Order: sequence, then structure tokens, then C-alpha cells
Amino acid sequence: MRKSWSLITLCCIVTAGCTSSTGAMENVEEGENIVIDVSLPLGAESHHGVGVLKFGEELERLSEGRISVRPYYDNALGAEREVFEGMGIGIIDAGMVSTGPMGGFLNEVMLFDLPYIFQDYGHAHQFLDSAYGEEMSLAIEEQTNVKVLAWMENGFRYQTNSVTAVETPEDLVGTNHRTQESQVQIDTWETLGANATPMAWNEVYSALQQGVIDSQENPIPTIYDMNFSEIQPYLNMTQHVYSPAPLLMSGQLFEAFSEEDQELILEAAEIALHVQREESREQTEAFVEALEEDGMEVTYPDMELFTEAAAPVIEEWKEVIGEDLVEAARDFEVE
Ligand code: MLT
Repeated sequence: MRKSWSLITLCCIVTAGCTSSTGAMENVEEGENIVIDVSLPLGAESHHGVGVLKFGEELERLSEGRISVRPYYDNALGAEREVFEGMGIGIIDAGMVSTGPMGGFLNEVMLFDLPYIFQDYGHAHQFLDSAYGEEMSLAIEEQTNVKVLAWMENGFRYQTNSVTAVETPEDLVGTNHRTQESQVQIDTWETLGANATPMAWNEVYSALQQGVIDSQENPIPTIYDMNFSEIQPYLNMTQHVYSPAPLLMSGQLFEAFSEEDQELILEAAEIALHVQREESREQTEAFVEALEEDGMEVTYPDMELFTEAAAPVIEEWKEVIGEDLVEAARDFEVE
């Protein structure tokens, strides 16, 4: 019979007499079949879904069927911040979480909330695949007990709203804009002129639908997956932030595998990483037109104006995030 790790862990936590969260069940026994539950914020056909499914397929192949993956789409295991926290304490196996809600656990991750740091996908990918990405993975692991398996991607983010086409920052004045749960993002949108409200991802669609907020921002594949064209007539190509969506695993669960299995897990994640980034690129290219066909008005604002207007946010936060890190990211030499 196959075991789901999070259920075992959860049982252990609630069972009196268990010495630690995972206790005697800590190690995955040789020959045992394991199902890893993976939380995703989007659906199966999204760029996230494609990455997790590829990870599962490769892991099953490499482990000759012993280790498999069970995806839970559309936040079915909880909102992203809860999922991240759950992995840290070992009650959630694994998940894809966008970096926005992770900054509350680790200042360095707020790098990805700063506006206009990364110029293009090459810049972001090469930075993440360099020693800087590796160092950040280690810091996440050490400080939160969550293992980064691969720097998968959410993508560059674009603003949508139900009020107006956005050409300049002045067009944002008075809009009620949802941010991720990140003080840097709140400051960015307030600096640009909007009224910013942090909100968990799983509440956003209904808040937009009910008019509690009228604006949000996300990568193109996400905007498409969520059918935001039904309720947001304006798509503004602000490209203000590059947002990774790392594939993560509970540190306890990762450590419970043998070294050989850990290698397989990392190998499967590495193969899936490239497939996921490629899917993200293809969806981003294809879906702007698809969203336009679905009725969204697409506007290309003057990016210089936005970069200039948002610059004080970088100055305000660079000490907290790490001046060296911010400069290393901004000035990273792309090959
Ligand atoms: C968000 O806006 O909260 C996220 O980008 C959602 C996601 O991770 O897809």
C-alpha cells in the first residue's frame, strides 16, 4: 500500500507519546512506496501544473515506481503562506509557492518583490541558476526547514484591472489594488499611487468579482488559468517584477529519504525545471493574444516612467534585503 507522508506526519503530531513530529516513522524504508502530496496555487494545465506533473513523471521513472507525486490543484491544501509554513513544520509534503508570501519568513526572498530588478527572462534565470540562487536555497533551508528542489517560475508580472487602461503611474491613483502578502509590494503600489491591500491568493478571484478590489497583478499564464478576462477588462503590460515559484519540499520529508533517493528527487526536479520554464515561456507568448481575443484591452505603458516612480522602494528596502544581494541581482552579468 502507498503511504502519503503528510498524513503520517499529521497522525504523529496528534498522537500522544510521539517523541517528535515524525518520530520513529522518520525514515522512508527501503522498498516502501511513497506518494508525495504537492500543493499548487493553479490548475493542471497551468505552467505550474506542467512542472509538477513532469516532476512526478520523472520521479516515478527514476525510482522505478517507488516514489510518486499526487498534485493538489488550486490551493486545495491551503493558501500559499500556510503551505510554506506547513512544509517547515512537516505537515505538508511539498508545494509550489510563489515567492511573494515567502518574504515574511526570510528577508532575502523579498528581492523578488522589488520592482524592476530583472530585465528579462535570461537575466532572472541565469541569476537563479548561479551561486546566488544556490545560496538563497541554502538560506531558505536553514532558516525555514523547507528544501528548494528547483527554482521553477511564476514569471514576470502584469497588472490587470476593471477600471482603466494604464499608460502612466497616474492612472493607478485611486485604484484598489491587491498585492501578495508582502510589505515591499504594498509599498511599491502605494508609491505608484494605488491603494494597496494584501490578500491571500485563494481570495483574489471572489474579491475582484465582488468589487472589494478592482486590480491585481500576475504572470500571463496565471491570468489565463484564472480566467481573469471574465472580470478584468484591462491588461497592462507593466512587467514590474520577476516572480519565481520554487518547487519546495518539507525539510523533514527530504531528510527522511535515503541519500540515493534524495539524488533522484533532485534529478527529477532538475529535468522538470527546464520543461516548466519552457512551458511558462510558451504560455506567456501565446496567451497575451488569447486574452485579447477573450476581450481584454492590452496596453503597453511607458516602462521608464514606472521604473523611475518605483525606484524609491528599492532604496527603502535594500538594507533589509541585503544591499550586496540587491546590487548583485540588478547588475548581474548575463551571458
Ligand atoms: C499570487 O498572486 O498570489 C501568486 O502569484 C499566485 C500564484 O502563485 O500563482
